[in-house]
Amino acid sequence: MNRADLIKKFDKQARWYEKRRIQQAQKEWRQKLLYFARGNVLEVAVGAGANFSFYPPGVRITAVDFSPEMLKRARNAADEYGIEVEFIQSDVETLTFPPDSFDTVVSTLSLCGYEDPVGVLNRFSRWCRNDGLILLMEHGLSSNPFLSFLQKALDPLAYRLVGCHQNRDMMNLIRSSDLVVEKVESHWAGVVHLVWAKPRK
Ligand SMILES: C[S@@+](CC[C@H](N)C(=O)[O-])C[C@H]1O[C@@H](n2cnc3c(N)ncnc32)[C@H](O)[C@@H]1O
Repeated sequence: MNRADLIKKFDKQARWYEKRRIQQAQKEWRQKLLYFARGNVLEVAVGAGANFSFYPPGVRITAVDFSPEMLKRARNAADEYGIEVEFIQSDVETLTFPPDSFDTVVSTLSLCGYEDPVGVLNRFSRWCRNDGLILLMEHGLSSNPFLSFLQKALDPLAYRLVGCHQNRDMMNLIRSSDLVVEKVESHWAGVVHLVWAKPRK
């Protein structure tokens, strides 16, 4: 799918993501992960701002997404929670920051969408300071063979409908990147992973 079509696809889903943000979907997992965010935070593929209410006070957030409709809703969310966020409309796969720009890099439900997820993870490692943290909540192939068979079968349809792949061996991708995984918590038959990682310098 070309970039323009992919962006349009996410634009069309923005209202749904806003609803999920208001319902505090995946609250328990987001809370658990974002509790560890510190200092200058980069949140990639921010969507409608579903994580904003879970950040500890005092963090400074830079939020990126390529969908203008998602960013519009994320701006509303930041206003609603009274937090200051710097928004950047950009494709994460072509985005550049100087090395060691952030204390924390956050990605939730984004690695399913990139063409080169390992390349994006390696960027996180470069952008994150030595003593920083990379926090991920990502989904991928289940550890249950029947479920993973279904995920693989449904992947082409899911990608066409919502722009996200369902067939990625997520922990394998993360472990093959420059990230040094410190802790993993897996849920929903191994479909969803919470990951605490360090950059590899
Ligand atoms: C599945 S949603 C997740 C949104 C949010 N992170 C959350 O946890 O609810 C994926 C988001 O990633 C954005 N996205 C996907 N690919 C992207 C890319 N290459 N560059 C920037 N944003 C991207 C989409 O616009 C969408 O907002």
